Amino acid sequence: MYLSKKTIQMLAEKLNALNKVRPIDSALLEKIKKNFQIEMTYNSNAIEGNTLTKKETFWVISEGLTIKGKSLKEHLEAKNHHEALEFLYELIDKNKKNTISEYLIKQMHSLVVNESDSKIAGVYRTGNVFISGSDHEPPSGFEVAVKMEELIAWLKKEKNKHHVIELAAIMHHKLVAIHPFWDGNGRTARLIMNILIMNAGYPMGIILKNDRQRYYRVLAEADRGDYKNLCEFLAQSVIRSLNNYLSVVSPTKNKKEQLLTLAELAGKCNYSPAYLKKLILTNKLEAAKKGRNWYSSVKAVDDYKKSIAK
Ligand SMILES: Nc1ncnc2c1ncn2[C@@H]1O[C@H](COP(=O)(O)OP(=O)(O)O)[C@@H](O)[C@H]1O
Ligand SMILES: [Mg+2]
Repeated sequence: MYLSKKTIQMLAEKLNALNKVRPIDSALLEKIKKNFQIEMTYNSNAIEGNTLTKKETFWVISEGLTIKGKSLKEHLEAKNHHEALEFLYELIDKNKKNTISEYLIKQMHSLVVNESDSKIAGVYRTGNVFISGSDHEPPSGFEVAVKMEELIAWLKKEKNKHHVIELAAIMHHKLVAIHPFWDGNGRTARLIMNILIMNAGYPMGIILKNDRQRYYRVLAEADRGDYKNLCEFLAQSVIRSLNNYLSVVSPTKNKKEQLLTLAELAGKCNYSPAYLKKLILTNKLEAAKKGRNWYSSVKAVDDYKKSIAK
């Protein structure tokens, strides 16, 4: 087990909280999905060297705009990555048990570089490559096919032996280490690992452009067989997405802040309306007055309880 107990517990708790608020209103879900798509496309392409900003990515994808000073290739990369994400969502929606195959990986790759680099789309490299910024030497061109076969066999065998986030992290590393394509390996592998993650009900893990150095460092550790930090790194990205989701869909936070009459509030805490009023009049409990009535919230009472517990 590479993930710490604490991380595993946090993933479970937050996934559980998310499952509790399902089903999520479809309009809201669509909005969240759009945000994730921009976030993922921007970050994954930026890691790879694309210079579009997040806002520009949004303009290109959602508004079909052309950004002055940015190359056609950068535009196409944004558009193609977005289309690959649409395909990913379709997979997840359609079939809960979709398995990762070489065919699927090639399909994803051909979407990622569809127009930006169509000559290499969906075909394994036949020559050697190196990864700039890394000491890792991928297998030679003629070994790729065999290594990919081994990867799929490994995945089948290990599927139930790991926490799904661990499985996704190790799978991700193995795929980028083989580096089966001339280019687009990172982007494709970041999408493919999310098939595993999203099939398990989690929102997608997004590796941030700002974490590029750390990402390369934990991949280099994985090259040496040390997977711990890579797994934690991916888990943190999924936890960030879970938090993101929860902050948008969770009614509990807003509910706690909802203003209630003292009679209503008394029903939700251990104080009587009279005692609540006394706390308000002695400036111990945050409250608001509308007309002749006082209003406060569960959150305010929680804050008061915390203040006296100190
Ligand atoms: N030490 C490493 N071991 C294995 N893979 C690595 C290592 N360092 C970087 N990589 C992977 O190589 C990718 C870059 O390969 P590339 O084919 O150019 O992909 P893309 O064009 O999508 O960025 C990085 O995004 C990362 O996933
Ligand atoms: Mg590249």
